[in-house]
Amino acid sequence: MRILFIGDIVGSGGREAVNHFVPELRKEYNCAFCVANGENMANGNGFARSTLDELKKSQVDVFTGGDHTWDQKDFEKEILDFPNVLRPANVSAQQPGRGYGIFEAADGTKIGVVNLLGRTFMRFACDCPFAAAERIVEEIHAVTPFIIVDFHAEATSDKISLGRFLDGKVTAVLGTHTHVPTADETVFPGGTAFQCDVGMVGSRDSVLGREIEPIIQHYLSGMPFRFPVTNKNVRLCGSVITVDAEGHATAIERVVRDL
Ligand SMILES: [Fe+2]
Ligand SMILES: [Fe+2]
Repeated sequence: MRILFIGDIVGSGGREAVNHFVPELRKEYNCAFCVANGENMANGNGFARSTLDELKKSQVDVFTGGDHTWDQKDFEKEILDFPNVLRPANVSAQQPGRGYGIFEAADGTKIGVVNLLGRTFMRFACDCPFAAAERIVEEIHAVTPFIIVDFHAEATSDKISLGRFLDGKVTAVLGTHTHVPTADETVFPGGTAFQCDVGMVGSRDSVLGREIEPIIQHYLSGMPFRFPVTNKNVRLCGSVITVDAEGHATAIERVVRDL
């Protein structure tokens, strides 16, 4: 079977590209399941009911979160209406929603999806992602060997280390958060597909999906600026993972589509 994984969806342009390309990609690669990181879908910051409703036709099965999960007012209540939205698992148990779940692919395969937050150079303190991964993966393994981990983290060293740590225990460890796709996609010896960062669904003419000039001005002056999302020339970045009957990855391929 094949699984499609999409990087951070940024703003309305990102949502448009996901609605446009995901059904097409699922068909083209015969993907039975799709996970997308959604932490920037609502105007660049967080999730909202309206944006999740807009993406209902996208054929994304599960949306993962990150450090921006709670940026939109009321989403701490709204998340309870969306069982297919995950926030990071290695945060306070008092946070609403859940950090992992078991879902069903189009061919009936049960697939565990785990969302983890990195600790290096990140805005928020969180629990150890390695310890959380070990505990959660063991729990999901009792049900299914098909497990996709979205590791939402800044440092490539953290990401490679977690990928190696989980090699042979999960189907894939895929990075999100930096919005820049890395060219290191590989299948580790134990059968875990890995990529430091899958990239984003956002403008190619931007800084990480936002207008270029205010960000340069911010760096030059050190003053606070607003960083509006831009929808100019949106590109979708994702990866397709091929998986055997035991839940081990046999291949990973980057996919890119320009609106
Ligand atoms: Fe992001
Ligand atoms: Fe992030």
